[in-house]
Amino acid sequence: MDELKIIEKIISEYMPKEDGLQKTIFEGMNYAVSAGGKRIRPILMYETYKLFGGNGDVIKPFMAAIEMIHTYSLVHDDMPCVDNDDMRRGKPTTHIVYGETMGLFVGDGLLNLAFETIANGMDYVDTADSKQVEAYKEAFKYISKCAGSFGMLAGQVVDKESEDKEDIDLDTIMYLYEKKTGELLRASMVVGAILAGADKTDVDIIEKVATNVGIAFQIQDDILDVIGTEEELGKPIGSDERNNKSTYVAHVGLEESKEEVKRLTNEAIELLSEIDGKNEFLEEFLTFLINRKK
Ligand code: IPE
Ligand code: IPE
Ligand code: MG
Ligand code: MG
Ligand code: MG
Repeated sequence: MDELKIIEKIISEYMPKEDGLQKTIFEGMNYAVSAGGKRIRPILMYETYKLFGGNGDVIKPFMAAIEMIHTYSLVHDDMPCVDNDDMRRGKPTTHIVYGETMGLFVGDGLLNLAFETIANGMDYVDTADSKQVEAYKEAFKYISKCAGSFGMLAGQVVDKESEDKEDIDLDTIMYLYEKKTGELLRASMVVGAILAGADKTDVDIIEKVATNVGIAFQIQDDILDVIGTEEELGKPIGSDERNNKSTYVAHVGLEESKEEVKRLTNEAIELLSEIDGKNEFLEEFLTFLINRKK
């Protein structure tokens, strides 16, 4: 099975059955998650886990959970009160199909299911092995913080409050990129490292690598919002301009932005080489992200 298929299978195992009186929420949750998406976060998590020799099932609930948290963030990000976008992953957004109220609940449901999934994933841990228990606790704390108001949501707040303002400086833009996009990408890689038993020095390196990857990923997202196509991206282009967002691209221009994506990624790959183990797939994957068209 290729990588993406393995990951799709893992995610789908944790998605809810569509029954019960509340089945609309389950249908919406499955709609949002199964619409597609590049699955970059679970891929990065899995590959970082493998980089440090991880080979157990304990990673699976976290892989599903990070995609649920990410998908919830997209469902809410697309709502009329946030970015007001009507297409996502090549399909009408969840609130367009299920209405705004259900869109809100579907997002809530996905966020909560992510944490239910991680809590239940404790069953994979041998509780007699204190190292495993500690790693699980660390990973749980890490992903929780990255998702919340000290993490991804902090970026969404500053992003929203920066709309329609002329005087947003580059530091603020970098802050909100590192938060709104960087936090979940960092959680992906760091959780992979922690669960595989990486030591503190290596976890610190992975944190730096992932921070670069996160910022580069968001700058590329902004570039594609200008020069991409809706067909390829599966979401509307020009969303940032329509919402009067202060983006890196608007600040420094397209060419300089492309250079910065390359610079940040190359720096990340260089940092990665400080780690003893090697994962060529991971390096190639980071390079692939620079040139992505979707
Ligand atoms: C989109 O993320 C939102 C950003 C953080 C830029 P992705 O580009 O990973 O979206 P999917 O999961 O592939 O749909
Ligand atoms: C979104 O940033 C980051 C999230 C936390 C969802 P964008 O608003 O630029 O993402 P897209 O372009 O809608 O995917
Ligand atoms: Mg947004
Ligand atoms: Mg958006
Ligand atoms: Mg965008």
